[in-house]
Amino acid sequence: MSKHAQSQRITVPEIKARKGGEKIVCLTAYTAPMAALLDSHVDLLLVGDSLGMVIHGLPTTVGVTLDMMILHGRAVMRGSQRALVVVDLPFGTYEASPQQAHESAVRLLCETGCQAVKVEACEGIADTIAFLVQRGIPVVGHVGLRPQAANVTGGFRAKGRTTSERDEVLAEARAADEAGAFAIVVEGVARDLADEITAAIGAPTIGIGASPACDGQILVTDDMLGLFDWTPKFVRRYGAMRELVSTAVAEYASDVRSGNFPGKAELYGLKTG
Ligand code: KIV
Repeated sequence: MSKHAQSQRITVPEIKARKGGEKIVCLTAYTAPMAALLDSHVDLLLVGDSLGMVIHGLPTTVGVTLDMMILHGRAVMRGSQRALVVVDLPFGTYEASPQQAHESAVRLLCETGCQAVKVEACEGIADTIAFLVQRGIPVVGHVGLRPQAANVTGGFRAKGRTTSERDEVLAEARAADEAGAFAIVVEGVARDLADEITAAIGAPTIGIGASPACDGQILVTDDMLGLFDWTPKFVRRYGAMRELVSTAVAEYASDVRSGNFPGKAELYGLKTG
């Protein structure tokens, strides 16, 4: 049996059972080396479609394809052994019908080995979530700020700060929960709405720009490591990768230009004999 056997990983029922209990630690991962670094620290690794913006320089997540998700999903599975791995269904691969979603989700599960998929869960998607769950595909829902809807909402902004939006987001969360989502990402919503959702539904909530009362938290790893000069208000920087990279590269460039690199220790000599 391969060392990446699913039995060594945290399972969907284990995550589900953490409702109201030990907090669920989640981060995004897109590559094998980063997944390997994060694996022992987190419970869940999300191969988010944010990779379109973070890795591929796209303006939104809308241009991300299923093939991109499969490529990065495979890399994250190869790099990790313990965390539950969830891969996003990207824009345009699940909204048309439950059958379309099933076909796409089967590809994600079979071609990457991941354990679950995530869908942005407007109320209309509840039937699709139920369809997938009934056919053995664990689903995470994603409510509140839904990046794939950026063209409808006019960008990325916090949701649920007016009464009508509040009702809408609460209804989305309830619908995804009732449809069988085993966890629900709650992104960019007013804190008391996130609290209300967490209390109202049976599935654990994973907050991002939501509330400390959520059952778990997630951040985009590259944001929390400080790789970008701008990040949303809800990101706490736990590192200064941007400065680290810039300093290291400036030093390398200077060493190359001055002839200080490569040095004796970095060179091969002739083999004797
Ligand atoms: O795509 C992503 O990385 C996400 C997280 C921000 C929750 O959906």
